[in-house]
Amino acid sequence: MDVAIIGGGNLGCAIAKALAKRYKVVVTRRNVEKIRFLEDVGCEVCSDNLRAVDSSDVVFIAVKPRDLFNVLSELRGNLNGKILVSFVAGVKIDDIKGVVGCKVVRAMTNISAEVGRSITAYYTEDLTPEEEFELELMLECMGDVVKVDDEKLLDAITAYSSAVAFMAKIFQSFVYAGLKLGLSKDLARKLTTALFKGASELLNLEEPEVVIEKVTTPAGTTIEGLCKLMEHRIDFGIVDAMVSSAEKLKH
Ligand SMILES: NC(=O)c1ccc[n+]([C@@H]2O[C@H](COP(=O)([O-])OP(=O)(O)OC[C@H]3O[C@@H](n4cnc5c(N)ncnc54)[C@H](OP(=O)(O)O)[C@@H]3O)[C@@H](O)[C@H]2O)c1
Repeated sequence: MDVAIIGGGNLGCAIAKALAKRYKVVVTRRNVEKIRFLEDVGCEVCSDNLRAVDSSDVVFIAVKPRDLFNVLSELRGNLNGKILVSFVAGVKIDDIKGVVGCKVVRAMTNISAEVGRSITAYYTEDLTPEEEFELELMLECMGDVVKVDDEKLLDAITAYSSAVAFMAKIFQSFVYAGLKLGLSKDLARKLTTALFKGASELLNLEEPEVVIEKVTTPAGTTIEGLCKLMEHRIDFGIVDAMVSSAEKLKH
């Protein structure tokens, strides 16, 4: 299957880089010069949305919500027999179907797609099992894939795509801590990267409580740090950040 990605911005480019390893991909944006670099990874780039759609079986949409309905109106006559996959946060399938007559999938992912480490959640009622199989194969280029059985869950999952920025912020704080403790920036960065990778592998195998217990000896160094984290209410802060992010979709 060939893919068109309409909206070669932050997310569209991340998706394009992942898919181009296995699929024929054409990416569009109006200011096409800004995505010339995608030609180096094997994508075709252009500013002609209709030409891109005509040469594709699956059409991914990754424009901002404010641009979505203009794009859908432009494409509506050229989408027959195609599958439209919208990554646009907060816009419901029924609203998209108010404009286009093709099969529609709503999906959410994050920019780790670029390195094949995202998780893509999708919802649809339109695809045959064979089409779902083909779509999942395609989305797997970007990382894990999960089908959800309620479209509303995609709004909550959107907070996890924002959370890449939260993780970057936390990463940055670990690097600052290293600088404060007298480490070089390079070493602090290396330690932080290993910490994130190692902790996520461990947490894939064990519950957080088990990992915490293994590191925390009585009257030791870890409990000192953990108490400081609690004092700063970092757990509530993270829950609050995620909930605020998801709530924003409603406005
Ligand atoms: N960024 C993320 O991490 C992320 C994660 C999950 C979901 N999303 C969703 O993905 C969508 C895009 O987000 P983003 O951060 O990638 O935004 P972005 O960087 O602004 O990308 C959107 C792109 O759409 C292009 N565009 C606008 N109108 C167009 C048109 N008529 N035809 C073709 N291209 C057009 C814009 O380029 P030109 O102005 O040059 O046309 C722009 O590069 C949003 O709906 C967002 O909710 C983003």
